[in-house]
Amino acid sequence: MTETRREDGLRVLGGLSAAAFLGDYWQRRPLLVRQAFPGFEPPLDGGDLAGLALEDTVESRLVRGSASQPWRVRHGPFAEGDFLQAPERDWTLLVQDVDKHVPDAAWITDAFDFLPQWQLDDLMVSYAVPGGSVGPHVDRYDVFLLQGHGVRRWQIGPPGSGRETLSGGLRLLDGFEATDTWDLEPGDLLYLPPGVPHHGVAVTACTTWSIGLRSVSALDLLTGLVDDLGRDEQALAPIPDTIPTGRRPPARLTDRDLAHWRAALRQLLADDRQLDRAIARTLSGNKPGFLETDDEAEDLQILPSAATPSDPDVDRLPSAGLLVRHPAVRLTLLPATADDAARLCINGEEQRLPLHRFALADCLCGKRQVPVAALDGHLTSADNRRWLQQLLDRGLWEHQSDQGGGNCQR
Ligand code: SIN
Ligand code: CO
Repeated sequence: MTETRREDGLRVLGGLSAAAFLGDYWQRRPLLVRQAFPGFEPPLDGGDLAGLALEDTVESRLVRGSASQPWRVRHGPFAEGDFLQAPERDWTLLVQDVDKHVPDAAWITDAFDFLPQWQLDDLMVSYAVPGGSVGPHVDRYDVFLLQGHGVRRWQIGPPGSGRETLSGGLRLLDGFEATDTWDLEPGDLLYLPPGVPHHGVAVTACTTWSIGLRSVSALDLLTGLVDDLGRDEQALAPIPDTIPTGRRPPARLTDRDLAHWRAALRQLLADDRQLDRAIARTLSGNKPGFLETDDEAEDLQILPSAATPSDPDVDRLPSAGLLVRHPAVRLTLLPATADDAARLCINGEEQRLPLHRFALADCLCGKRQVPVAALDGHLTSADNRRWLQQLLDRGLWEHQSDQGGGNCQR
């Protein structure tokens, strides 16, 4: 699939513009798009997925069951025999993070780049034999379900209906009643917001490509903040004690005590810039195991230096082609303020950006693939060039010798 745009709308959204989709559907109601990916040729088939599920670094599940036989799940890694002995009906194999394990499949997620980059969680791919399904359920995140091979019958029900029960290791919905039924064929896409009951049953052997979005909880952000505060001298310093006034039961906290401790906590939360940094770092956080970065990231804090254009590091930078971001890289970019530097966060690692590097980072992070030529204007300083070379050396970006014109715009 090369062309995704139709007039000012997006083909992947059935001709809706991103703004119309985000205003009317996103987190609100389902959207079915026939031929969102016309001529879709799935990069992997059931055999490829079974191969991935043998690896112990790959998260996979095998779900068996149907309306007449209780669903139950087993977790991978699996052995070849698990698939050779599998029955002809009523099972599904699901593999998580396919975009990260098989970078050649990551282009599928590019069609969703109207959403913030950090919001993409993973590309999960399922292979089901006829009758296979994971049972009726609700998800707590947004998902785009793209039909790969074969046909799957999707049914959805009204939000809030049915009752969640834990059965066979799965959280399923008792009393699921369908209000809509669609048969999805290769290239069709169904968007579901969180909380919509759904049930997808394979009509023929099929693959489903689920582009799952992240939901970030207040607890996630607070955990990120606590993590940040753990490196902050002021937050680590003991809070001066309250001075007891008069006699009182020794274990009792007075209103005055509580006001004192509350004020100390609120003072920590009053620093907006600190909160912004914690938010930026937390949102860029990734699952463990994928391109883990250094906590302190000192090696990437490249300051203006004596590097000259004859620096061997600088000279290794490619002068043409594309820079392609690794699919496991999750990014947030925080612009500078009057009294604090800009920050780039990569998989939970924060880098302070000097002023002359912000435009380079902005351009580089605007798309998953950026022509080297588009960065030219930002690579006149040797330390910017060294910085970019380090990102390439660490495998966060990769050089591909594709012809590219274009610019930094999304
Ligand atoms: C599947 O691919 O079988 C399940 C996807 C889902 O319901 O979220
Ligand atoms: Co689901």
